[in-house]
Amino acid sequence: MKKVAVFGSGNGSNFQAIAEYFKDRDVEFTCISDRQDAFILERARKLGINRLHVPFKETYNYLNTNKFDLVVLAGYMRIFPANVVKLAKIINIHPSLLPSFKGKGVIETAYNSGVKVTGVSVHYVNEDVDSGEIIAQVPVMIKDNMTLETLETSIHAVEHKLYPLAIEKLLFNKPFCIDCMINFL
Ligand code: GRF
Repeated sequence: MKKVAVFGSGNGSNFQAIAEYFKDRDVEFTCISDRQDAFILERARKLGINRLHVPFKETYNYLNTNKFDLVVLAGYMRIFPANVVKLAKIINIHPSLLPSFKGKGVIETAYNSGVKVTGVSVHYVNEDVDSGEIIAQVPVMIKDNMTLETLETSIHAVEHKLYPLAIEKLLFNKPFCIDCMINFL
């Protein structure tokens, strides 16, 4: 049984996509939020998955005491300091083609910048924001006349497909097929 912690601060749509993908598989999830009122915890409740409010300052103690095969960040709005990063294998999903457009609000930043291709990146977490080694990326075309809203919908749809596959690759060594992702676009 693989143990996976998913940390999020908000909506939790990626967490839900991951939980549904691994339903009935040998993976035990724990959903953790730094915010007691985050919708991600409500999603966990509905899915019947262990859920916990862990204030940011208690994260070191929590991850030092509770060991996971993988820690997955999904909309977690805090930056782990170096001592926390060393406690586990931690990954994140980011809605751009890193190293372009690091930080927050980047779907809109990319849209307004005039680039014709953006996308989604899954990467390891280190102490610098959105800077760890890249694990997987999928492009999303910004077509002429595409609205920001349509681009956001496409990016999130790709995230929900890519993140479970990247996690599966890391947990079970299963190679994933980038062509399957491209065909999905
Ligand atoms: C996603 O766009 C992810 O790339 C970014 O934060 C957002 C989280 O969305 N890191 P959700 O909470 O999974 O719905």
